[in-house]
Amino acid sequence: MQEITFRKPSDLHVHFRDGPMLAAVVPYTARDFRHALVMPNLVPPVTTTAMAAAYRERIMAAVPEGLDFTPLMTCYLTDDTDAGDLVAGFRDGVTVGAKLYPAHATTNSQHGVTNIRNIRDVLVAMADAGMPLLTHGERVRPDIDVFDREKFFIDEILVPTLEEIPTLRVVMEHITTADGALAARSFGDRVAATITPQHLLFNRNALFEGGLRPHLYCLPVLKREEHRLALRQAATSGLPNYLLGTDTAPHLRRDKEADCGCAGVFSAPVALEAYLQVFEEENALDRFERFATLNGAAFYRLEVPQETVTYVRRERYVAEQIEVGDQSVIPLHAGKSVGWSKLGAGAEH
Ligand code: DOR
Ligand code: ZN
Repeated sequence: MQEITFRKPSDLHVHFRDGPMLAAVVPYTARDFRHALVMPNLVPPVTTTAMAAAYRERIMAAVPEGLDFTPLMTCYLTDDTDAGDLVAGFRDGVTVGAKLYPAHATTNSQHGVTNIRNIRDVLVAMADAGMPLLTHGERVRPDIDVFDREKFFIDEILVPTLEEIPTLRVVMEHITTADGALAARSFGDRVAATITPQHLLFNRNALFEGGLRPHLYCLPVLKREEHRLALRQAATSGLPNYLLGTDTAPHLRRDKEADCGCAGVFSAPVALEAYLQVFEEENALDRFERFATLNGAAFYRLEVPQETVTYVRRERYVAEQIEVGDQSVIPLHAGKSVGWSKLGAGAEH
């Protein structure tokens, strides 16, 4: 296939940050996606409906003129979340879900939930309202190996919670293992999972290829080859449980290339093209629109976008870095090329 046309996709997991970084990165996502579901792990985190509404305005101010782009907002759950405010925000259409960061699991998760039992009433209220719970699915304990965190979360937190609150709807964010892929399709249409481009493209060898590769370090960390293959099978299966969510997570170059470097891959400038490469390699381009557009719209009960986009099989060079004030961020595939290009894309890409 030399060309593919599909309805404009939704990126159901992005980090936009705030301030100059927000202004620099929002245009990449807004050009390629109809919606983006925005993570709330700012400093301080977006913990109330009012904070989510204010953040939405700051994002809209960074969207280039003429683009039909909608940010979908989320709240960050803490041990003290007010269930009334949270669910009112969902019912009023300000937010589309709430994010569970287990405390200390990842970037800016220090205000996260210390014990799932502390938010049981919040989860019940969310289930009653039909508000999805979005999980950073890692169990963090000194005795749990970093590569096993996802499986421990599934077994010790996710499955018991799904069984205890049978109407709760859950999105397992950025699954990285065969265990995650299996869990996501084991609860019918109440559970879905996002999958990032980096977890489809790379196994954990990539972190050490010829030296330490900080720009491929994200959380949950890349896993073994068997897990990458299971994720590719899941994403391209056409099943409704698997959704496009890039987890594009920009950090300044100096913060990545540092002792104790930050976790996150900035994929927004090439994410769509990277997913297309995977679907092409798996002979599944005919199922791309389900993963990229239709499954997410169905799960989040969004209108299916009408506008279509066309990508052609043509190489495109990826910038070495992107300026943010007097600093820079390094995109996925920096200085390399991708095999697909958006038809009509201008020099901005
Ligand atoms: O790699 C990651 N980066 N994983 C996360 O969970 C958070 C994200 C970030 O905010 O940088
Ligand atoms: Zn994320």
